Amino acid sequence: MRLLNTIGEMRAFSSQAQMRDRVLGLVPTMGALHEGHLSLVRVARERCNSVVVSIFVNPTQFGPNEDFEKYPRNIDRDCELLEREHVDAVFAPSAEEMYSPGAVSWVTVEGMSDRLCGKSRPGHFRGVTTVVCKLFNVVQPEIAFFGQKDAAQVAIIRRMVRDLNVPVAIEVGPIVREADGLAMSSRNAYLTPAERKSALVLYRSLQRAQQLFDRGERSAEKLIAAGAHEFQSEPSARLDYFELVDPDSLQPISTISRGALVAVAGFVGKTRLIDNVLLNP
Ligand code: PAJ
Repeated sequence: MRLLNTIGEMRAFSSQAQMRDRVLGLVPTMGALHEGHLSLVRVARERCNSVVVSIFVNPTQFGPNEDFEKYPRNIDRDCELLEREHVDAVFAPSAEEMYSPGAVSWVTVEGMSDRLCGKSRPGHFRGVTTVVCKLFNVVQPEIAFFGQKDAAQVAIIRRMVRDLNVPVAIEVGPIVREADGLAMSSRNAYLTPAERKSALVLYRSLQRAQQLFDRGERSAEKLIAAGAHEFQSEPSARLDYFELVDPDSLQPISTISRGALVAVAGFVGKTRLIDNVLLNP
């Protein structure tokens, strides 16, 4: 497995893969890898004959008072895990390598970037789409793999690729959960044992909406009220949003007739966590 730290090295690797007619797959990550990330690597391994994983804690997607500084970083452990998955190359540039001084160009998916997490984290999705676009330009993958865990991110990246004719296919892997239902996340490492228990309220609130939906309820208002009520039964968690939206446009839905995305975000202590389920009539 190659460890590539510069854009030049990454481009050279990518052109070699293209010359050898390899199908190049990219799994973009911010590191601190867990089974959620590794599940995407395994799908990429099946679908592609050259797999690149990028590890870059992207400063532009963090707000000024967010956890950029303390975000877990452990490149040695990440590389060990990826070596075991037979990844071909890890692209781990520095922030200086990725962003030239005075960079002022951004990719924004208007009307979507301010939905869900974009509402409570202004500028977050602009940072995500800009860095993903840059990674696509540098790595030039045929296929890029993302997790349903970040459902809004998936919808926004799909729209960016469509609107800007980016020649990359987007594939999405299901949410990987701990045995008790908590969605895996690099940020779970912040939780104390007590918070870890409280964090289950995210999944519980989604399940509540799912149960009602399975019993035939189609009113978004009722499903949201039930999910939010369940969330608020956990005193040590604070709800950010509980929303029901169209999975492609992220616009709110009032009555479910096609698929719907139920998305929740909340704080457990100081840690902000997200989760979601898709409802399919
Ligand atoms: P990160 O949070 O490291 O996640 C990298 C990828 O792993 C994303 O596509 C995310 O949806 C997926 N993932 C995370 N937890 C998952 C889980 N429990 N099950 C399935 N997939 C999971 O998302 C980012 O990084 C960044 O925004 C990035 C796209 C790399 C741009 O900086």
